[in-house]
Amino acid sequence: MSTNPSHNERVVSGMRPTGRLHLGHYHGVIKNWVEMQLNYECFFFVADWHALTTHYDDPSRTPEHVEDMVIDWLAAGISPSSATIFLQSEVPEHAELHLLLSMMTPIGWLERVPTYKDQQAKLREKDLATYGFLGYPLLQSADILMYKADYVPVGEDQVSHIELTREVARRFNYIYGREPDFEKRAEEAISKMGKKNAKAYRNYRKAYQEQGDAEALEVAKALLESQQNISVGDQERLFGYLEGISKIILPEPQARLTPASKMPGLDGQKMSKSYGNTIALRDAPEDVELKIRKMPTDPARVRLTDAGDPDKCPVWQFHIVYSDDQVKDWVQTGCRSAGIGCLECKQPVIDAVINELKPMRDRAEEFEQDRQLVRQIITDGSEAARDVARETLDDVVEAMRFSSFSR
Ligand code: TRP
Ligand code: SF4
Repeated sequence: MSTNPSHNERVVSGMRPTGRLHLGHYHGVIKNWVEMQLNYECFFFVADWHALTTHYDDPSRTPEHVEDMVIDWLAAGISPSSATIFLQSEVPEHAELHLLLSMMTPIGWLERVPTYKDQQAKLREKDLATYGFLGYPLLQSADILMYKADYVPVGEDQVSHIELTREVARRFNYIYGREPDFEKRAEEAISKMGKKNAKAYRNYRKAYQEQGDAEALEVAKALLESQQNISVGDQERLFGYLEGISKIILPEPQARLTPASKMPGLDGQKMSKSYGNTIALRDAPEDVELKIRKMPTDPARVRLTDAGDPDKCPVWQFHIVYSDDQVKDWVQTGCRSAGIGCLECKQPVIDAVINELKPMRDRAEEFEQDRQLVRQIITDGSEAARDVARETLDDVVEAMRFSSFSR
């Protein structure tokens, strides 16, 4: 058992099944997940339905991509004993929550999400004027709200989806969070906190509701969190009472911005499979060496005797990620004075990348030999995720008073 108090805070994040991962994914996303799994209750999943929104015409390679991606997650250090690793379509509750949320989500909210038009323009060869694609960010909201996540690690491009998720949660709570006798129950809960705390709570609530004092709201929340002698139900009621919502069924998550990766592709552009400029986590050392040796450098260095400028060279970007100060000084001086050759300059990068990938390659190989184990990890994770998902759906359906007859 961890004694770290943040361990009961939840993190949810997903990735579309792109197949084998590369260094851009590792430095941009996965390294961050590996760290988070130690400090939070993490749910990491493969968003295969999201892949379908843009690749509905040929999903046949998805299962292969799912497995390959999960192998790379495992190889990079995501561990099924620290995080719940699952597949979205193995938890069909996501589809059910998506459907229920779709009933109360205004179309305009979805049309206004910037990625909707951006992606349509970018993938012009596909017909993305579809119902499913419009719903992409709402399906994502369902993914997140399903686990009542506190934090969602995402890149800048996904922040608007988290914003939408917050709005949807707020709307849901507003529409369905009305409990009969709510005020009476809240007042009863307040008196259970003891005279001093009850008075403080009332004052903070008043300051927030009458003067919009955001600090008072925060202090009141902290006060509630520290209460040992009231039930979880009463505590939730009092959180809602503070903000004038009667009951919070779906808590609002926060985006945790993943810092943009400093790792460019081999040609200096963003590392991406579609640019053919990647180093895959499972690339063999010989391939890594060859790819880096072939990297373009500062075009001004035609001959060994021409001085160069690291700022105009993608190899320097790799040094920034991989080299210590001493090596970086050596590059700066050697490049600008034509004291070193480009191949010489690349060698420490080659060594560092090969070193970084070695343990990942070894672990990936073990999983490649035992694909049954990989599938078992996904199945077990999905089963565990379903248990949580069912609980949330029960809360949702109950709040809507739409309990279908088997529930
Ligand atoms: N849309 C995300 C992406 O393209 C993937 C995703 C799906 C996701 N559901 C999610 C991310 C839930 C975080 C939380 O990267
Ligand atoms: Fe790039 Fe290094 Fe060659 Fe300079 S010496 S151009 S930094 S590879």
